[in-house]
Amino acid sequence: MTGRLVSEMASALRECSPEEIRTECCDIREVQGDGFDEETVAVIAMPAYIGKLPLPGIEALRSVSGGKAMTVTAVSYGGRSYGNALFELRDIAEECGFTVIGAGAFAISYMAKRGSSRSSLPAMDTAAIVEFGKAASGKIRRLGGCEIEGLRIKPAPLEVKGRKPVHKISRLSPGAAAIAQELLEKLSFRRKSSEWFL
Ligand SMILES: Cc1cc2nc3c(=O)[nH]c(=O)nc-3n(C[C@H](O)[C@H](O)[C@H](O)COP(=O)(O)O)c2cc1C
Repeated sequence: MTGRLVSEMASALRECSPEEIRTECCDIREVQGDGFDEETVAVIAMPAYIGKLPLPGIEALRSVSGGKAMTVTAVSYGGRSYGNALFELRDIAEECGFTVIGAGAFAISYMAKRGSSRSSLPAMDTAAIVEFGKAASGKIRRLGGCEIEGLRIKPAPLEVKGRKPVHKISRLSPGAAAIAQELLEKLSFRRKSSEWFL
């Protein structure tokens, strides 16, 4: 999901940038503390587990300094509900100094990804990721369109639905959580499709 979003945004931004645009994808746990600035566009993505962000992801993100980099946040989820994960990611990223201009939640079919014949869904909602990537790049172009800092349009605070979650899941063992998840996948219908906020 992250790689696809990054490549979509990079190709849309290359169309309008006179300067070379380089991309780099890495595990957030390996990101150095202060490598971001206003010349960087950051894409921060994590999976949603029981409607929340994984605690190691939160911990790693909290150690990074965003330097006001224009940022797009994204969560992947199994197609039922991403709960408060997207809200929480936007919130923490802002606290760390990133300027979040877009946020999206994208359905990934766990069963299709594992090659299960019981899944009629694609492994990843690529169409939504591509659409979001193009729209987010358009917003970045509009916001960054002026050389003079003082004349640039300031982004309005991004509204994402949700609230701050409580991390009870951290008390479950990952093995037990995965078994519970598989059971839930078998029993539940897909209720939500990918959605994004700009
Ligand atoms: C422990 C666990 C909890 C999960 N909870 C949810 C959930 O609450 N809602 C949902 O739609 N998908 C849920 N999923 C599915 C994951 O969000 C999905 O498999 C993941 O985003 C795919 O990314 P990954 O391959 O990086 O894990 C859960 C998966 C696991 C393993």
